[in-house]
Formats: sequence, structure tokens, C-alpha cells
Amino acid sequence: MRNLNPSFRIDTIINGEISTNTHIISCLTDSTCMVIDPADGKVVSKFIENNNLKLKYIVNTHGHYDHISGNKFLKDKYNGLICIGAEDAEFLTNPALNMSAYVGDEFCSPKCDIILKNNDYLDLGDNRIFVRETPGHTQGSITLSLGNSFFSGDLLFMEGLGRTDLPGGDPVKLVESVRSFWSIVKMESFIYPGHGECGKKLMFENTMREIFLYRF
Ligand SMILES: [Fe+2]
Repeated sequence: MRNLNPSFRIDTIINGEISTNTHIISCLTDSTCMVIDPADGKVVSKFIENNNLKLKYIVNTHGHYDHISGNKFLKDKYNGLICIGAEDAEFLTNPALNMSAYVGDEFCSPKCDIILKNNDYLDLGDNRIFVRETPGHTQGSITLSLGNSFFSGDLLFMEGLGRTDLPGGDPVKLVESVRSFWSIVKMESFIYPGHGECGKKLMFENTMREIFLYRF
């Protein structure tokens, strides 16, 4: 039976070449954890070891190299399940798609174990993490939520929207996704983006105001 009072902890590690936010959700009752967007697998592994966690899921909000480059180290060491949106699954094994080919360090992740679709969920002990398809930054971008915590990947940041000028980017879809994401985030919610500062919904309102004024 599901615990009606789920207990979890969220930690954020800034790591990798372009300061990716790797978020780690850990269940306080069974010590399983989900790693979202690992950039440097060794750094994330150190956190897992220091906190005696059991890695269950490696979730990529999208397939760009700075969000998947820690997959291989963590998969090899813990055999966690790699999860990604359908349209970005090919990015894992294609350096041109995941953009690593353009930064002089061709990178491939192991293939995905689980394709995530709209309204799918992943259980972590007593906690249920929901998936939404939010295309725009890439076609297969997803966002995640656990209670009042929202993980936005590169959909939006405190400083502005995710870029849409990379292959697969689509500004119209991004705006649609931001609208639907914003509509489910409550005032008391906390947003964890893929880069930059994390914070309450209120702290993102300057970004949203600008977007509503100029881009919607
Ligand atoms: Fe990205």
C-alpha cells in the first residue's frame, strides 16, 4: 500500500563542463534514488556513495550531451535504468544529435531502458514522479514533477526560456510547452531547472512576464 505521506529529499549538484544542474531525488524510507541529468558521473557517484543511496533511475530531461554525459559511468557502476523521452532516445547514441560532436569530444551513452511518455510515472519508494512531454528545446524534452517540485530541464530558467536554435528546436512548441508547464506549477511550487538558480515559482515571474509581453 502506498504511503500517504511520502518522504523524499532533493539535492542539486552543479557539475560538468557547462555547469549542469544534476538533481538527485532520494527516498528517505528505502534510500533508492533517481538522478536527473547527470553530467559528470564520477561526481554524482561520490554523492551516491557518501549518502548510501541505491541508484534506481537515470532520467534525462533531453538528449543534449551536457545532460547525458554521466549516464555511462552511472550505468556501468550501478546499472540504473536510463529513461528519456521518445524523440530524444536516438540522441543517446548519436554524437551529432547530442551535440558532443561539435565540442570536440564525441560522446555516446548506453541505450535507454525506458521510453517516457506524457503522464507516465516512475515510483521511487513511496514517491511517484510524473512525466510530461514538453517539446521545444528538443522534440523529446520532458519535465518531471514530484508533489510541488518541478524539474524543467532546459525548457525554462530563472533568466529566460530554453534555446530553440539547436537541431530539433521549435519556438512555437516551446511556447506551448511553457504555457502548459506554467499552468500546473502552483504558487508554492519549487522549480529545478537544468542550469542556473532553482527557486519558487514567484522567482521565475520576471522571465514569464517578459515572455508574455514579447513572445506570446
Ligand atoms: Fe539542452
